[in-house]
Amino acid sequence: MKTMLELKNITQVFGGLVAVNDVSIHVDEKEIVGLIGPNGAGKTTTFNCITGVYNPTKGKVIFEDRDITGKPVHEITKDGMARTFQNIRLFKSLTVLDNVRIGMHIRSKSNLFFDAFHLPRRNKAEKEMTEECMKLLAMTGLATHADDRADSLPYGAQRRLEIVRAMATGARLLLLDEPAAGMNEQETAELMEFIRELRDKGYTVFLIEHDMKLVMNLCDRIYVQNQGYLIADGTPAEIQSNQAVIDAYLGEEV
Ligand SMILES: Nc1ncnc2c1ncn2[C@@H]1O[C@H](COP(=O)(O)OP(=O)(O)OP(=O)(O)O)[C@@H](O)[C@H]1O
Ligand SMILES: [Mg+2]
Repeated sequence: MKTMLELKNITQVFGGLVAVNDVSIHVDEKEIVGLIGPNGAGKTTTFNCITGVYNPTKGKVIFEDRDITGKPVHEITKDGMARTFQNIRLFKSLTVLDNVRIGMHIRSKSNLFFDAFHLPRRNKAEKEMTEECMKLLAMTGLATHADDRADSLPYGAQRRLEIVRAMATGARLLLLDEPAAGMNEQETAELMEFIRELRDKGYTVFLIEHDMKLVMNLCDRIYVQNQGYLIADGTPAEIQSNQAVIDAYLGEEV
């Protein structure tokens, strides 16, 4: 299996705090990989080191054989990696379709010269882009809501829309930071199905999640982070019976 993403000994220091400590992770093509750990373990910071929000203090991030360590966020997105955030970051007052269009614009070739002198061609490009966005929305059951305001969608659908927007960038690797946060059981079950379909469509998924039922049922492999360090990795069955993991969660059901 081809390695899509590789973290080599990533460390991120904030003042005196080592938020991510010597973390090495690999995600293979078409895998669903989970990153779990208690609050404050360093999971989101790890994602921020991968996606260019931070230039890690130490270590390397390799994406499809290219070193992307410290590259700016928008360049990494263009390379084919996109993410969602722990808290919903949609443009609330824009339509569902426009939220997806914004994602797609990141990869569009248009520039000022092109826009000013080639209006018909630009219009054609816009039309094609809209069609492609509608296809993505149709694929994800959101097409009938294309013209609705983003914040009129039920919570679970808003989280799904964020994933669609990430897909629209042309990404092949999706990083999802707590996609099931705030969802009820029904919405979580639908999300799991949705993420499985993403993999079937050829996407690779790396996700942070606190919902153990989702993680254990969905992920091929899981990494466990605690106080910055990785303390375990393995299949769901291996993680569930790992003593260091059980200790880190102290009595919580893993
Ligand atoms: N920009 C920052 N500056 C200083 N400290 C930070 C910064 N970002 C995160 N931290 C600290 O780094 C540690 C790890 O935070 P992080 O958000 O990565 O944890 P997490 O595993 O995602 O937690 P949660 O499950 O609550 O989302 C925490 O102690 C946090 O306060
Ligand atoms: Mg977090």
